[in-house]
Amino acid sequence: MQTDSSFTFVLFGGTGDLSMRKILPALYEAHRAGMLAPSGKIFAVARHIDGREQYLQWVNEHVRPHVSKARFAEDAWRAFLDRIDFVGIDLGKAEDFVLLRDAVANLPGTRVFYLATGPSLFVPICRALASVGLNQNSRIVLEKPLGYDLRSSNAINDAVGEIFAEDQIYRIDHYLGKEPVQNLLALRFGNALFEPLWRRDWVESIQITIAEELGVEARGDFYDNTGALRDMVQNHLLQLLSIVAMEPPHSMDSDSVRDEKLRVLRALKPIDPRDISRVAVRGQYHAGVIRGTAVPAYANEPGVRPESTTETFVALKAEIDNWRWAGVPFFLRTGKRLADRVAEIVVNFRPVPHSALGATALRAGANRLVIRLQPNETIRLYCLAKKPGEGMNLSSVHLDLAFDQFFREGQMEAYQRLLLDVINGRLALFVRRDEQEAAWRWVEPILNEWAASGTRPKPYAAGTWGPAAASAMLAQHNTCWLEEEN
Ligand code: BG6
Repeated sequence: MQTDSSFTFVLFGGTGDLSMRKILPALYEAHRAGMLAPSGKIFAVARHIDGREQYLQWVNEHVRPHVSKARFAEDAWRAFLDRIDFVGIDLGKAEDFVLLRDAVANLPGTRVFYLATGPSLFVPICRALASVGLNQNSRIVLEKPLGYDLRSSNAINDAVGEIFAEDQIYRIDHYLGKEPVQNLLALRFGNALFEPLWRRDWVESIQITIAEELGVEARGDFYDNTGALRDMVQNHLLQLLSIVAMEPPHSMDSDSVRDEKLRVLRALKPIDPRDISRVAVRGQYHAGVIRGTAVPAYANEPGVRPESTTETFVALKAEIDNWRWAGVPFFLRTGKRLADRVAEIVVNFRPVPHSALGATALRAGANRLVIRLQPNETIRLYCLAKKPGEGMNLSSVHLDLAFDQFFREGQMEAYQRLLLDVINGRLALFVRRDEQEAAWRWVEPILNEWAASGTRPKPYAAGTWGPAAASAMLAQHNTCWLEEEN
């Protein structure tokens, strides 16, 4: 479907890593698929670029390699470049924004400002936009991280909130744009089948894992001041948790969905600082081997302080204090340089209350739903079935929905979906301020306790599944991480 109207998309941080890897490739793909109104324009704002020609050269050299080969078409690429213009702005000079205003103020349609810059620039850019009147009839997209803690995130939200109304602000969390996350909503609220089971009576535990093989790449500087809890848990993992645990919304309009997610985030049981060592594990990778390649320790990565205590791995037990979920542990885990790249949600159902068919039916995890976000997007339901042959022996079987086999066309990258949502004014998949605050409130005691404790993260070798303590935490609940069963 094509965007509703024409648009002007202004990309701050136009030569940054995110623009190069995600935003511009996603816009190209939307263009190639005929989803952008033909008159829509893209304006890049970046430093160290001397005019449109040089910017297009940069796009050709740096963005094109990030466009999937299967989706590249020379004529579509050329037409995409025709949409792009460049405005040279020194972000420190408010008067330069007059140039931007002159370039975009009279263009028709929706106006989007995408801030793919560090958070320290959010407020100065918004103020400069307001000084030339560009905050009217515009949408603003804020990339994460939005602040460093509740206070700094409030400071940004307060300042941006003086310039843009909440319904003009799109706080992006790209995990919400992933197809299987959307499908989880469809599965839960489009089928009567799961709803009666989706509660403490039938669910024993839930695991949400985002594991990466990559290390900190060229972002050592940024990451060393951030860590896994701020980089992944406060946003992506808690957003996934809120979608798994939310009540059925009244409708799919943006506030109905976000109200329900907010209720979950507010119901997260606060973590008592005295319990933190029991319910939270932090780790940092040492040198190791990933798929046959030796990789250095985190402390030896460029930009990282050699004595750094920043965590590159976190495992947590969360609980939700409401009728549906009281007492059900939600185990959250994320880390860099782990054994595999996988993001998945595992819902472990309780075993049957009595088995006339032998002990297998009483085993934990006999019934489980695994929602694999990446790679190989699938939803898999595990059940027990009789093994062929004599006797009544049970064996685990699974029913699969493999998205690429079932739906051969129309798959969209997360950024593509989210950018189209911004252009079309759909806020449901963007994080509202109150959700973000509730998430910070929950993670902050952990951050504070770790900072105050003077302890170091537990070491783990790159290429493993993190510190043993993460497995021990689950063992206390008579369960284990999914990969430990196989
Ligand atoms: C980003 C984090 O938000 O998500 C990165 O800042 C992380 O550190 C990335 O690598 C993971 O996203 P994906 O979609 O590749 O799993």
